[in-house]
Amino acid sequence: MTTPFSLDNDTAYQQWRSQKLSHYPIDFIGLFVDITDPHHLSDKEQAQIQYNIDRLNFCFYRVQNAFNNKATIHALGLQLGLKNLDHNLCADEDKLTSIEVCTHTNQHNYIPYSTRQLSWHSDGYYNDDNKQIRGILLHCNRPAKNGGISYIMDSEIAYILLRDHNPDCIRALEHPEAFTIPDNELNGEVIRAEISAAVFSLDEQQQLHMRYSARKRHIIWRDDPDTQEAVNMLNALWSEGSPYIVSHKLQAGEGVFCNNSLHRRSNFEDWEESAKKRLLYRGRYFDRIRIEN
Ligand SMILES: [Fe+2]
Repeated sequence: MTTPFSLDNDTAYQQWRSQKLSHYPIDFIGLFVDITDPHHLSDKEQAQIQYNIDRLNFCFYRVQNAFNNKATIHALGLQLGLKNLDHNLCADEDKLTSIEVCTHTNQHNYIPYSTRQLSWHSDGYYNDDNKQIRGILLHCNRPAKNGGISYIMDSEIAYILLRDHNPDCIRALEHPEAFTIPDNELNGEVIRAEISAAVFSLDEQQQLHMRYSARKRHIIWRDDPDTQEAVNMLNALWSEGSPYIVSHKLQAGEGVFCNNSLHRRSNFEDWEESAKKRLLYRGRYFDRIRIEN
């Protein structure tokens, strides 16, 4: 099978690359899909979503107030082919995660549940190989008073930038021990064993999958010059900014879904009143987005 992700096939890569980059700078028209009834996507809405997923691997949406709830996420997810939810440590009973400022009993005080910024990452990069997150749906129920802006970039763009810079960076990040995450201990008990993995890999459908975190702590990069060069290049990209990055502060009833694209969140100031405090719902899925007609 011909894949643009083979370093031995530059022709396939160049074709795919020019097609991909033809969508940049991003045309914001259609980037946001106004969904009338999230329980029944219209043909036009489906087409808009498909267009965004094909070109960007992510898509923003907006629903009316009446649909600003968890049922919307479950309904949308099913129509997007997002069916197998990961039940992560902090998930609610319905496997969606409520992202709000809180402390979880007997759990770490993870950054997502604080007002602090979240650096660039893909979700579940520390998961076992057979529990990789392929799709994410993030829905804003209530925005923060200030800040809490979402930033997103297609992982395939990261691949292109690195490969154009130096194909050896790709080779290094395809190494099965490109990074190591030490075990996760809680109250003296190991709740997740140490894991090593490749940043870039292909799934059974030859789709690119990226596992990444820009965190400096709790991630050990392979000690080799090409890996270091790749990591440095990505760090420079995050600090310098890029026209390939889309940023948006999700408002109540707005959301974004993606094929586990790279993303981050800025820090924020929350509301005083508990009923107004920032609340987002997130679903992490073992499926990529595939629109069900
Ligand atoms: Fe995330």
